[in-house]
Amino acid sequence: MNKLVSISDCSKEDILNIVNLAEQFEKHPNPHLLDGKLVATLFFEPSTRTRLSFETAVQRLGGRVIGFSDAATSSSSKGETLHDTIKMVSNYVDLIVMRHPVEGAARYASEITNVPVINAGDGSNQHPTQTMLDLYSIKKTQGTLENLTISMVGDLKYGRTVHSLLMAMRYFNPTYHFVAPQELRLPAQYPEYMRANNIKFDELEDMNPVLPVSDILYMTRVQQERFTDLVEYEKVKNTYTLRSSMLESTKDNLRILHPLPRINEIAADVDDNPKAYYFEQARNGVFARQAVICSILGMC
Ligand code: CP
Repeated sequence: MNKLVSISDCSKEDILNIVNLAEQFEKHPNPHLLDGKLVATLFFEPSTRTRLSFETAVQRLGGRVIGFSDAATSSSSKGETLHDTIKMVSNYVDLIVMRHPVEGAARYASEITNVPVINAGDGSNQHPTQTMLDLYSIKKTQGTLENLTISMVGDLKYGRTVHSLLMAMRYFNPTYHFVAPQELRLPAQYPEYMRANNIKFDELEDMNPVLPVSDILYMTRVQQERFTDLVEYEKVKNTYTLRSSMLESTKDNLRILHPLPRINEIAADVDDNPKAYYFEQARNGVFARQAVICSILGMC
């Protein structure tokens, strides 16, 4: 891999290589593979986990970070185009990590610079490094990526982590259950892709039927920031809340994932349930991002 803008560009081998490297970085977190390297983190949208885990990953590898966490402090607030920002930053660094509200922004950036670009989330489109840490979390908790039943719940329309994960898991013979209110169902291109490729899936509005059959329950937040009409957000914002009592008849190996942040879709009483895995999942982000960075820079 010489960039990571969409999980759809990754082969099965690319994905397994990252998952295996993440395991190595968890065992040996601080090899100085990036000595002398500079990485830019350009965050045009808010972030806690993605930016901080990328910056942790770079620093654990001995590299250094420049960038911004708020576009208002960059010259984009004066009207500088994304084109010119990318051209400028390319003069300074060995790798660009970028989050941007516009779908396709990371691919556009990758096409105007010779510096490798990692997509840290582009609008509602993709979040491929979240997927790498999700896959590492699934492999760690299930012992395999193959033949799993994965239920995704919540905002499947705007949820970029859902879009990336379902495309990555296509290599591993999944059975999917997609649970969302009508307003937040998957964009049509994903069911069309799954039908064309004989991937087993169904779409439901009720979360209860999927609970006893799932290996992975992937909860997501209804993302207020993606709605142009807040009345529509108010209608769907409280559709799902997972509570610990709902986990009683679930499989022993079930693990609950969430890309975070959460609002109210997972009640606090789930946090102490042994099937809750979302905080460990976020920790895995450092190892997965170390793997992606080193792979793209040809350091491992
Ligand atoms: N999962 C995720 O992308 O979290 P942040 O928005 O905090 O980076």
